[in-house]
Amino acid sequence: MKDHIIVAFDTQDKKQFDFLFNDLKNDIGHAKIGMEAFYTFGIDVIERFKKENIKVFLDLKLHDIPSTVEKASRTLSKLGVDILNVHAAGGVDMMKAAALGFKENQTNGKMIAVTQLTSTNQDIMNNELNIPGLVEHQVEHMATLTKSAGLDGIVSSAGEVKKVKARLGLDFICVTPGIRPKGSDQGDQKRIYTPMEAITSGADYLVIGRPITQAPSPKEAYLKILEDIKL
Ligand code: C5P
Repeated sequence: MKDHIIVAFDTQDKKQFDFLFNDLKNDIGHAKIGMEAFYTFGIDVIERFKKENIKVFLDLKLHDIPSTVEKASRTLSKLGVDILNVHAAGGVDMMKAAALGFKENQTNGKMIAVTQLTSTNQDIMNNELNIPGLVEHQVEHMATLTKSAGLDGIVSSAGEVKKVKARLGLDFICVTPGIRPKGSDQGDQKRIYTPMEAITSGADYLVIGRPITQAPSPKEAYLKILEDIKL
């Protein structure tokens, strides 16, 4: 089960990063490095995880014109990251360019796309972003675009996984943030599910940050989640 959980190392504090790294490194299989940590600490953090045989999801959510994203993906693929992502909202040509750049150096790496941020709910999508329709339909639409661009999967909430897999196939990877064990703080996430709900939805990977990193003992919180999702 540990391979299903990706711990989000979202911190800009070196001491906290070192503490989390040392507390969790012997137990976790995957780490997620997002903008906060990557822009603060640079490429060295990736090397630290790789040395411990921990897989790295570099969550930079690339979104720009196709040629810029292709070049960025090519550079990032040289770091040996296992999963890299883009925003599906960049369109099919951008996603194809991203995959082209990434796969040149990383034949086993996975390139996935964010469909709709899990901090976006129905009201925000319709009234702020001016995108009509239901969030789940928008996610399915973006997932279909992602697959047509030849990417390996998507980032979505656990609530959308069943329909996406039914439409695009079981091997189309679904990575789900917005995970909150019962009783934990929702924070800025809007479309949230428990770890068990996400696993039973068929999600391939659960991205979990604050419920682990802000816990008094991150290691205990991580192991408790693992225990909870034992099927
Ligand atoms: O702390 P929390 O568990 O909410 O962390 C979720 C992580 O997943 C964050 O690093 C966030 O950037 C990321 N993420 C997300 N929603 C997406 C894509 C990525 O929450 N659609």
